[in-house]
This record gives sequence, C-alpha cells and structure tokens, in this order.
Amino acid sequence: MIRIGVAGLGTVGASTLDLLMNHNARIAGRAGQALSVAAVCSRDRQKDRGVDLSSVAWFDDPVALAGSDEIDLYVELIGGSDGVALASVEAALRAGKKVVTANKAMLAHHGARLAALAENTPGASLHYEAAVAGGIPAIKALREGMTANGITRVSGILNGTCNYILTEMEETGAAFADVLADAQRLGYAEADPEADVGGFDAAHKLALMTAIAFEQQVDFEGVEITGIESVAAEDIAFAGELGYRIRLLGIAERTETGIAQSMRPCLTPRTSPLGKIIGVTNAVVFEGDAIGSVMLTGPGAGGSATASAVVADIVDAVRGNTPPTFGLPAAGLAEANRAPTDAERAEFYVRLLLADRPGALAEVAAAIGDHGVSIQRMQQYDDVGGAAPVAIVTHETADKDLQGAMASIDALAVSLAVPVSMRIVTT
Ligand SMILES: NC(=O)c1ccc[n+]([C@@H]2O[C@H](COP(=O)([O-])OP(=O)(O)OC[C@H]3O[C@@H](n4cnc5c(N)ncnc54)[C@H](OP(=O)(O)O)[C@@H]3O)[C@@H](O)[C@H]2O)c1
Repeated sequence: MIRIGVAGLGTVGASTLDLLMNHNARIAGRAGQALSVAAVCSRDRQKDRGVDLSSVAWFDDPVALAGSDEIDLYVELIGGSDGVALASVEAALRAGKKVVTANKAMLAHHGARLAALAENTPGASLHYEAAVAGGIPAIKALREGMTANGITRVSGILNGTCNYILTEMEETGAAFADVLADAQRLGYAEADPEADVGGFDAAHKLALMTAIAFEQQVDFEGVEITGIESVAAEDIAFAGELGYRIRLLGIAERTETGIAQSMRPCLTPRTSPLGKIIGVTNAVVFEGDAIGSVMLTGPGAGGSATASAVVADIVDAVRGNTPPTFGLPAAGLAEANRAPTDAERAEFYVRLLLADRPGALAEVAAAIGDHGVSIQRMQQYDDVGGAAPVAIVTHETADKDLQGAMASIDALAVSLAVPVSMRIVTT
C-alpha cells in the first residue's frame, strides 16, 4: 500500500483528491499497487473539499507532513517559488520520499538543486508533469518520447489566460485592460494578473522544457520576457489585416552562439499551427532532428486537467518510472549557455504613428534602410487629426539592426509616438 500525503487542497489539490479517492481502483490498477490518501494539509480545516476526509489524517504544517512516517509519497500543490512549498519538498526528498508537484515557479528557481537532491537521496524522486502546460503530457513527451532526438527548438503557447485575452481582443476589438477586467469577472484571470499577463508563469514553464531539451541547468533568468500588457487593439487589428494573429509565444532554440529563450508577444500566420490556437488552450511544439516536428495541444490549466497530470506522475512514481528529473543526471547538466538575443534574425512587424505630411514615409524608409533593414510590406491607415498609423513588415533582419532602425525613426520629427515592434514567427 502506497500512502499518499497531499498538501494544498485548492483548485488542483481538491481535483487530485477527487481522482485518487473516487477512481481509486482504476488508478491503483495502473500503478500496480494499492494506493490511499493517508494524510492531507491545508490552511483551513473546515473548508469543504468535495470529498470525505473524515478518515484521513490532517496536518497543519506541510513540512511536518512531508517528513512524516505516515506517508510514502508527498504531493505538493500549495504553490509559490519559496516558503513552505520549497521547504516541504526539500523535507520530503531528504526523507527519501517520492515527490509530485505542479509548482513551476519553485522548479524554475530551484530546479537544479532539487533535481540533485532527488537523484542523490536513496528512495527519493521528483515528478512535475503538471507544472508545464497543465494536462498536456509535455514533460513525458519531451524527456522520454523525444529522447532519440537532438532538439533544435521548443516553442509553445503556455498561458491560457494570455491566449484567452488575445483571442478576445481579436474577436471584440476591445482594449487589453477591458478584456482583462472581463476575464477577472469570469474567473479566467487572477485578481493579481501580473504572473500571467507579464509572461512570468509561461516563462517558468519554458525554462523547465529548455533544461530538458538542451541538457542544461534550468535558467529562468536567461528567458527574455515581455508580457502582453502593451499589446494594443490596433496591433491586433493591423496584424489581422496582414494575415497574422498575435500570440504570447515561448521559444527556446539552439543558435550558433548558445541557447536563446524568449517569452514575448509575436505575430504568427493565422494558418500556422500556433496561430490556430484560440481561447484558453495551450500548445507545445518540439522539433527534433530525427522526428521533425511534434505538436501537442490541450487544456493548460484547470483543476481536473491539471490533476490528470498529477495523478499520472503518482502512477509513474509508484511504478518506479523515475528518469532523471531533467533527462540527464543533474550532475551532467551543462551550465546555461545564453545566446545574446540581439543577434537573432527574424521578420518584424513595426507600427508607427507619423505626421501626415509629404515626405514622411520617405524619411522613415531612409532611416530603416540606413540600418540595413528592408521593407517587405507597408500599409498606411487613415489620418486622424494629422497623424496616420503605418504598419510595416520587414524582411528577415537581425534584432539589433531593427532596434537601431527603431531608434532612428523615434528621433525623427515626423514620428509622433514611440514605434512598436514585434517579431514574426512563421513556423
Ligand atoms: N490552477 C491551475 O489550473 C494550475 C495549473 C497548473 C499548475 N498549477 C500549480 O498548482 C499549484 C496549486 O495551484 P492551485 O491553483 O490549486 O492553487 P490554490 O487554488 O490557490 O490552492 C492552494 C492551496 O494551498 C493551500 N495553502 C496555501 N498556503 C498554505 C500553507 N502555508 N500551508 C498549508 N496549505 C497552504 C491553500 O489552503 P486553503 O485552501 O486552506 O486556503 C489551498 O488549498 C501551484 O503551484 C500552481 O502553479 C495550477
């Protein structure tokens, strides 16, 4: 009998209890051993969790539960990069227990150390499928299914709240702030939305996949992050007219100068695999030298979907299916090798606001040309009060050249607002 302790009985924790207690025979059958929820821990003992906990031991302290002799396997569903979540996971691993967590923030900041602790402690193991893309089995597919491949690129839509907001902006024409307020009313966005809309939550997930894909230590600080707060309704509209959608895309790729990781709003063709992802759905794309490209889509959040991944990890842990946390033994992971991001090459979308007077476009074209950037398409929109928006699509160019061109345009008297630019991702 494997005795499970669950700390954190919120959205994911309560759904995990539901699966473990109401579908116990099916799950135990697949695990090959009897399983029981032996103990739980949360802040509020009186709160109804939707399951009968009368015969389950209660702990007020997650660290005490994690180290307790009453459990064999510890499930951490509290959240937060540090604090009791981290202390309890460390305690469980030190006690030689199997640990399952959905906590991407903790792993993005402490993954290398926790992986080493898990791998160096007899009996211990660390499982985190639910931390990346919720219910989508992204970690298993990348770490185990793709193991024959040299990975060239990992990309994805990794935050359902952001994808919902961008989809709604596109469908309604509304501004970011209005759509965010609606999403908060409907429960699709947190009261404090910064982790989601600022791109940090998605960047945590990307950093974990980067470690597996490129056999390096988790390097969250190496992810260049731009959130979606500054995406304007007119960018969504202009991108649409040009045949693109704006999506918060995470991309980790091997370049000649190292591993580049970015999480930022990008334009992608409406017909591209990631351009077709709408609403709260998540997607990951893995590109490898043997298989080509693999894409997985599905629910990236929500109690039941995330608990599906938590329970899959519990079954793996019980079966003893415990590959090294990030694919290679922790001691074999290389130091992060960051590529300078301004060397990256891409096509770019640029939006300008120009004084509507003769010669303005020629001045802009000259400023762009001076930096070696060439224009693929340019569209001028109707003048409002003497100012005309202009949307430009460039040919492929180095990021640093594009930034130089943007600075030159910004210095022109005909440029009436700070130019906006976004990368175009075509695959
Ligand atoms: N929600 C999702 O869709 C989703 C998807 C993927 C991954 N995750 C990850 O899953 C984890 C849990 O997320 P969630 O959405 O389920 O969070 P949540 O609904 O806020 O639940 C957090 C739980 O932790 C408990 N808790 C907080 N501080 C505690 C403490 N000091 N001691 C004991 N218990 C404490 C809370 O107790 P009370 O209930 O008693 O207040 C609550 O039950 C996070 O790491 C999150 O990033 C969530």
